[in-house]
Amino acid sequence: MNSPGAHGRVAVVTGGAAGIGQALAERLAGDGHRVAVADLSPADETLSLIGKTGSEGFAAICDVSAPDSVQDFAIAVERAFGPVDVLVNNAGIYPLTAFLAMDWAEWRRVLSVNLDSIYLFGKAFVPGMVQRGWGRVISVSSTTFHSGIGLNTHYTASKGGVIGFSRSPAAEVGEHGVTVNTVAPGLVRTATTAHGPHAAWFDALAQQQAIKRTQEPKDLAGPVSFLASDDAAFITGQTLCVDGGWMRS
Ligand SMILES: NC(=O)c1ccc[n+]([C@@H]2O[C@H](COP(=O)([O-])OP(=O)(O)OC[C@H]3O[C@@H](n4cnc5c(N)ncnc54)[C@H](O)[C@@H]3O)[C@@H](O)[C@H]2O)c1
Repeated sequence: MNSPGAHGRVAVVTGGAAGIGQALAERLAGDGHRVAVADLSPADETLSLIGKTGSEGFAAICDVSAPDSVQDFAIAVERAFGPVDVLVNNAGIYPLTAFLAMDWAEWRRVLSVNLDSIYLFGKAFVPGMVQRGWGRVISVSSTTFHSGIGLNTHYTASKGGVIGFSRSPAAEVGEHGVTVNTVAPGLVRTATTAHGPHAAWFDALAQQQAIKRTQEPKDLAGPVSFLASDDAAFITGQTLCVDGGWMRS
């Protein structure tokens, strides 16, 4: 589906080699964006999906928590595609650890990958959006923040930070045509969750949702496509829960 106005725009998707990020990269490409993927892992599969939409993809290995790596990525994307219009901050990690067993190194790793990355990518791309008078920043939080389930202290703190991050810059850049929003998924079936301890929760959580099936990555694609579009120009500083109605706040 082509979103009017998306043609020629450039979108960056972090963590786009797999899971939710891959579905978002494929959808944004289908909308007509050229899509650049930043990931620790090679994104060949995503590039192939982007290619099948008829759009162009670019990928580079990037550690989203490392300032130099993000800076190198930003230079490479702008060389390949020119200025970036849409930034999707999706990369994240979610180890399950009890607070009493959590050490400083793990706390810092989760905060750094999930939250510092959003600062780094924002600093890399938002100034250009402001200068050109159009931009979209969409970050992936989690309804773990709203539900406060256990074994997630670092993760919940980081995902609350993602929501907080979106609110303040939204107030600063709105007059320049740049919106900053967050989507919050529930538990999504990706390779990581399906092969880890989260898989044991799929059925029980689905029963707590208004829509009683396990969430799939493509459930995020439409909402993110919309927030990236011209139609969403008057929506900013918001958090959209995309979780089958698990949270009904
Ligand atoms: N899957 C879920 O149930 C769920 C629910 C709510 C929110 N989320 C959030 O959605 C986002 C994507 O989750 P997912 O399930 O698709 O994850 P995933 O593990 O399937 O994919 C994450 C991708 O991010 C990449 N990545 C990890 N650390 C990185 C780093 N330091 N630098 C660059 N790339 C890195 C990985 O290589 C991988 O390709 C995360 O922010 C996650 O917290 C996921």
